[in-house]
Amino acid sequence: MEHVRKKFPIFKPGSHLIYFDSAATSQKPGSVIDRMSYFLQEEYGTVHRAVYDLAMQATSHYDGIRQKVREFLDVSEDGEIIFTRGTTDGINLVASSFGKAFLNEGDEILISETEHHSNIIPWQMIAHERKAKLKVIPVNDQGEILLDAYEKMLGPKTKIVAIAHISNATGVIHPIKEIIQLAHKKGAKVLVDAAQSVSHHAVSMRNLDVDFFVFSGHKIYGPTGIGILYGKKALLDQMPPYQGGGDMVHQVTFEHSTYQPLPLKFEAGTPNIVEVMGLGAAIDFIQEVGLDKIEAHEKILTEYAFKKMQKIEGIRWISKSKEKSSILTFTIKDAHSLDIGTLLDVKGIAVRTGHLCAQPALKRFGVTSAIRVSFAVYNTLEEVDLFVKALEEVILMLKNETGP
Ligand SMILES: Cc1ncc(COP(=O)(O)O)c(C=O)c1O
Repeated sequence: MEHVRKKFPIFKPGSHLIYFDSAATSQKPGSVIDRMSYFLQEEYGTVHRAVYDLAMQATSHYDGIRQKVREFLDVSEDGEIIFTRGTTDGINLVASSFGKAFLNEGDEILISETEHHSNIIPWQMIAHERKAKLKVIPVNDQGEILLDAYEKMLGPKTKIVAIAHISNATGVIHPIKEIIQLAHKKGAKVLVDAAQSVSHHAVSMRNLDVDFFVFSGHKIYGPTGIGILYGKKALLDQMPPYQGGGDMVHQVTFEHSTYQPLPLKFEAGTPNIVEVMGLGAAIDFIQEVGLDKIEAHEKILTEYAFKKMQKIEGIRWISKSKEKSSILTFTIKDAHSLDIGTLLDVKGIAVRTGHLCAQPALKRFGVTSAIRVSFAVYNTLEEVDLFVKALEEVILMLKNETGP
């Protein structure tokens, strides 16, 4: 993967950055940066609004990327792919719009115990608005969903299950296919928060038969400000628009407005055109490298790091599940995670520390703060060696209370 790493300008020769926070946001290959820059310099124009050539060309590039996403996710209709601002935006859209269309007093929404705040709060908000109930599917001590308990929780009142494909707190890969099948048996719909999965594992909407699927561009080597919501047409058609504005309307009078068909019904306002170009280049990048190769590379890194870190005195893993992605979350006995993060930063190593935007998940494991190391295609075994050495030094420093 050395040639792939070279495609990332941030890791240019002379840079000593060790970037282990790709679960928060990934670094960008030159092709993504160049595509956005070229579009801005040579091709920039509005979309879906104007008849002049520049705008028509921009529209054609923009619509082309919707098709690319559709193929990437194995979806049959372009209308089922909605451009959003990111995972958070996609979940808010579904919670609000699905909630208004389908949730009534006493209905139930299920989420798991290890969700990101983005997959908790929008559901809390709509549950409050519609007088519905938010119920929490428990996990075991390794962060794995308790499927028996989940099955028992599903009932005629369950309207939607919202679950991460991979928990950003534990790194556990949830058995979403089984979760979806069980929900469907009881007539409930499923939203999968795929923020942590799309850049690591191949997915097929057709195969999963999922109802809604959301992710962010910036976690899959693309830019911030862009994300995808996949939704089944039959459901999206029954849901009201999330926001009102330009592009999503058919006819407007002061008394009444009619809306565009999918996907535009859910895309109010001038979209993030440049970011869509970046997302297209990010998908090209992933496909050129190959998700199978990316997954294999990250597995090697994760297993190697786990084995080496296992020997560190005082380490406590948040999850040692076998069903894990390239995320390692842990605490160190008698050392605060923020101190460790700060001292590692002095050594040029970026790791995530704190509540990981998943306070209830950390609470489940009896901590309020943890350290998270996460890998991407550009990371190397040498970086893992340097990191483990640095971590040992930092722990010793804190033990002896000496400064760097
Ligand atoms: C599992 C999960 N869901 C949702 C999000 C929110 O993503 P964004 O901030 O890009 O909207 C994240 C980001 O860390 C995540 O890891």
